[in-house]
Amino acid sequence: MTEQLAVVILAAGQGTRMKSATPKVLHRIGGRPLISHVLDTAAGLRPERVVAVVRHERELVAGAIEDHAPGTVIVDQDETPGTGRAVEQALAALPGDFEGSVVVLSGDVPLIDIPTLERLVRGHVEAERGMTLLSAVFDNPTGLGRILRDADGAVRGIVEEKDADEAQRRITEINGGIYVFARRALEQALAGIGTDNAQGEKYLTDAVELILHSGLAVDAITTDDPWLIAGVNDRTQLAEAGREFNRRIVLGHQRAGVTVQDPATTWIDADVSIEPDTEILPGTLLHGATSIAGGAVIGPDTTLVDCEVGEGARIRRSEVTLAVIAAGAEVGPFAYIRPGTELGEAGKIGAFVEAKNAKIGAGSKVPHLSYVGDATIGAGSNVGAGTIVANYDGVEKHQSTIGDAVRIGSKNVLVSPVTIGDGAYTAAGAVVRKDVPAGALALNVAPQRNIEGWVADNRPGTSSARAAEQ
Ligand code: UD1
Ligand code: CA
Repeated sequence: MTEQLAVVILAAGQGTRMKSATPKVLHRIGGRPLISHVLDTAAGLRPERVVAVVRHERELVAGAIEDHAPGTVIVDQDETPGTGRAVEQALAALPGDFEGSVVVLSGDVPLIDIPTLERLVRGHVEAERGMTLLSAVFDNPTGLGRILRDADGAVRGIVEEKDADEAQRRITEINGGIYVFARRALEQALAGIGTDNAQGEKYLTDAVELILHSGLAVDAITTDDPWLIAGVNDRTQLAEAGREFNRRIVLGHQRAGVTVQDPATTWIDADVSIEPDTEILPGTLLHGATSIAGGAVIGPDTTLVDCEVGEGARIRRSEVTLAVIAAGAEVGPFAYIRPGTELGEAGKIGAFVEAKNAKIGAGSKVPHLSYVGDATIGAGSNVGAGTIVANYDGVEKHQSTIGDAVRIGSKNVLVSPVTIGDGAYTAAGAVVRKDVPAGALALNVAPQRNIEGWVADNRPGTSSARAAEQ
């Protein structure tokens, strides 16, 4: 776009209907605060400046904005309430000589997209209007501002529901709260807007009449996608917007070549990346900055948070956080993998295994019922069923090291810190408290003693005794 462009994002409101200690625009969909989605969309228009207006929970909201989009100019709204006042103060943060278009977005309308805004701006600039707004026709327009049109269908004003009469309330064309203005026209209009209305607020929507009065054109572009302008005002709308956002994310992955068997039970955050020819099975949640390479199969019933999954890896019915699962590795079913775990190529973390800060080398396997915490395992080793790496002495955590091609027997306790050399074996049931040299066998279970006839003597008449007799 050649025209100079600035974006104003309104985020000063209290969000009373959320009934929350968290400011409304910091509630999340797609794994990220509502406001971050609006900031991304704003950035997508490549504007010269983005101004966000804050007031309620100022520090929290401003902090989140600065984290996500550091170049954003933060403006504090004063005690005069209303969207008009918010925009008026935002305009004062634009360079004095900025003569371009100003797009106004709401921090609580997260699904507005770049193509729609580009269409809005293009129409606005080409027609040289003072104001262009985005409207929609809703079966149930309750709570929203209604678009007033004259007999010729030209936009004449916007009336808020609380200020509307019976006939106006029957209007189904609503104001989406998303606009583009000519800066000067808007500035002049806002200077003339008062607070004489049902809410005692300075309404941005009153700008329509004033801009028309100044001789500039105002028009509405109507969208047939109600989600684009869906506001999040309460928890129900938060869930609905979240579901729709997810539907759109899943669709994007499907179009890019990812098989998602059941979109309704698959939740994928905005920042997750998935290569083509990956299969996502029902009940899978992919959160944070998770990335999945091609050919991987994830799910069913699996949660990945900030994970890196390699090509062709397979993760079934497991919960995995901040871990790296290399190419061809296998996880689950029912594994619990905690931060700092790295499973090497073609390695395995199997059924009912918990791992934390464990580096498990290529081809190494922890197949069954084990806990591996704060340990490094080399390549090609095997950890027997039911083994515990006891990393915690009750006060401190300790680290253990297991070499390459080691065979840990079943039901071992490796009392950290301990080092087991390359190629060593440990016997079943061993409690390993001392280092094991490379190639050694460690065993410390007492030799077995059998007492002949014990069952017949001590448990006569039982099924065991009868079975033994036969
Ligand atoms: C507004 C519109 C309404 C439209 C609806 C669409 C006005 C007067 N009304 O109503 O016509 O149908 O959006 O969703 O504009 N905000 C501030 N400072 C304030 C008040 C609000 O920054 O003093 C921010 C809010 O944080 C929010 C946005 O402006 O992000 C909209 O405010 P809200 O109170 O939700 O307006 P609505 O009543 O929804
Ligand atoms: Ca709203």
